[in-house]
Amino acid sequence: MAREFTSVAVVGLGTMGAGIVEVFARFGHNVLASDISEDAVERGRQKIIGSTDRAVAKGKLTEADRDALLARINFVVGLERLDTVDLVIEAVPEQLELKQRIFAELDRVCKPEAILATNTSSLSVTEISVATGRPNQVVGLHFFNPAPVMKLVEVVRTVVTAPDVITDVEALCARLGKTDVTISDRAGFIANALLFGYLNHAVQMFESRYATREDIDAAMKYGCGLPMGPLALMDLIGLDTAYEILDTMYRRGGRDRRHAPVPLIKQMVTAGLLGRKSGRGFYTYEKPGSPVIVADEQTPVADSASADAARGITKVGVVGSGTMATGIVEVFAKAGYEVVSVTRGAEKSARVRAAIENSLNKGVARGKLSETDRDAALARVTSSANLEDLADVDLVVEAVVEELSVKKALFANFDEICKPGVVLATTTSSLPVVEVAMATQRPADVVGLHFFNPAQVMPLVEIVETIRTSAETAATARAVTAALRKVGVSCTDRSGFIVNALLFPYLNDAVKMLEANYATADDIDHAMKLGCGYPMGPFELLDVVGLDVSLAITRELYLELREPGFAPAPLLEHLVTAGYLGRKTGRGFRDYTKR
Ligand SMILES: NC(=O)c1ccc[n+]([C@@H]2O[C@H](COP(=O)([O-])OP(=O)(O)OC[C@H]3O[C@@H](n4cnc5c(N)ncnc54)[C@H](O)[C@@H]3O)[C@@H](O)[C@H]2O)c1
Repeated sequence: MAREFTSVAVVGLGTMGAGIVEVFARFGHNVLASDISEDAVERGRQKIIGSTDRAVAKGKLTEADRDALLARINFVVGLERLDTVDLVIEAVPEQLELKQRIFAELDRVCKPEAILATNTSSLSVTEISVATGRPNQVVGLHFFNPAPVMKLVEVVRTVVTAPDVITDVEALCARLGKTDVTISDRAGFIANALLFGYLNHAVQMFESRYATREDIDAAMKYGCGLPMGPLALMDLIGLDTAYEILDTMYRRGGRDRRHAPVPLIKQMVTAGLLGRKSGRGFYTYEKPGSPVIVADEQTPVADSASADAARGITKVGVVGSGTMATGIVEVFAKAGYEVVSVTRGAEKSARVRAAIENSLNKGVARGKLSETDRDAALARVTSSANLEDLADVDLVVEAVVEELSVKKALFANFDEICKPGVVLATTTSSLPVVEVAMATQRPADVVGLHFFNPAQVMPLVEIVETIRTSAETAATARAVTAALRKVGVSCTDRSGFIVNALLFPYLNDAVKMLEANYATADDIDHAMKLGCGYPMGPFELLDVVGLDVSLAITRELYLELREPGFAPAPLLEHLVTAGYLGRKTGRGFRDYTKR
């Protein structure tokens, strides 16, 4: 029989503690909610009231249930009254000495059989546990932000935690409607170990003005389907907390410099820009604690001068016959552009046309497109096997094989064939755009337009400017992207642009974690989906993208940025060598032939 936890206490009523109190009270537990001072307790109370009021407004909680929930919470200052509870969850700031002091105090105050849990994100649960006389009853219970919403709890066992304590807290998590993964005591556990390198990298992109905050966040939201972008997530976590987590992970996790907090984070913390909780972080919020972003001096304003500079585009040439080229032809045709689809032969052209017809027919069957619009879109597409037919287009989009020599030769051809003033775009996802630009006599007219697969569905386009791209060309690329009703984000010409540079090191880290036998592929996938709201776990995604493609992108990033932490995981290389390339070969990280 699993142990009952009739009454619990939560220590620290900040971003996490207040949410954890709400979770327990909602599931019928009496909760002692403790913080350091009357003021801090009051702030905690207001957070819980605000959150439960929002749940009522959204119809997720009845008024009566909210009142019952609040009545189960007793707010107290200090730890003295925690002598009767069965379980304590500590959620004070991420500092080892502070947590050790609190655990020593809890050990003195709480009854001998009480379980003491820490919500630490990155500190050693073992080091915290030895501050007590009962390290076998100390466990990590790592909730995710916002605790009432996110389904995951990481249960952290140390080498001394008693097995029945683990079983009891696992059963408790299930009763709280949470899914747990139980893991050993390693810096960052599963989710944060995979998340924080990515967050820090995104801050570094912002600090180095590689892209704006809006574009970095939009790239990850619309390119990967994440619930929010990395900078908005930093604001939600709290920059002070994020700083402490990174700092600890750097020190505990082998001094991987990807975890060395980017200097800007410390500067913002010092300036009191802590994120949502202080009303200002990377973004500005309506008031402290509010999720509503308001405009500030960094908010982009519609730049009419730039829009005016855009060249008029009516006819577009798309070169290539693969998945990307086919999708892109369809996107342009549907948006009303005349499209010349240039392939290497009639057979390939027929295949492109058939694929577009098929896709448009599906749109009609699903009621998303009328038959008239389908016919009009198809009528706008002409096929050709001759590059000379690009002579009268206003924009060329190249989407051929990802090989620099092939792309350079094509761009040299465009240079000879196309009329002056044409925008020449490449859809490369990993090659330097400037290399293809310099294959022409008109590098100012060359830009990257990085669509995502499937182009018909994915809303993002990365607009890549080289150091030679003219403002007019960039403005035209932005205007065209907007006319396609896609979200355009601008960045400069660096390996991986925004999305792949942030995504693939994270996927590679997941492979390294699996390789180190820290957790199973299922647990890692679960942790990222349920703890961070990702639409797919890293191994699901790697199998969809293809392990060969993933390895190639990871290698490019490593070669260009020379970051030791980006070196491809040996397991990824071995799977590729073995021909386990993911879904397309029936086997990657998972075996699809048995399903
Ligand atoms: N923010 C997140 O997204 C997140 C997610 C999961 C876990 N965590 C972890 O949760 C813990 C709390 O983080 P947070 O973001 O909620 O921090 P926070 O700064 O929002 O809140 C900390 C709270 O602890 C209180 N406090 C400080 N000293 C105290 C003391 N001596 N006794 C009692 N209370 C004290 C503060 O008054 C404040 O209410 C950290 O260990 C953090 O790593 C944070």
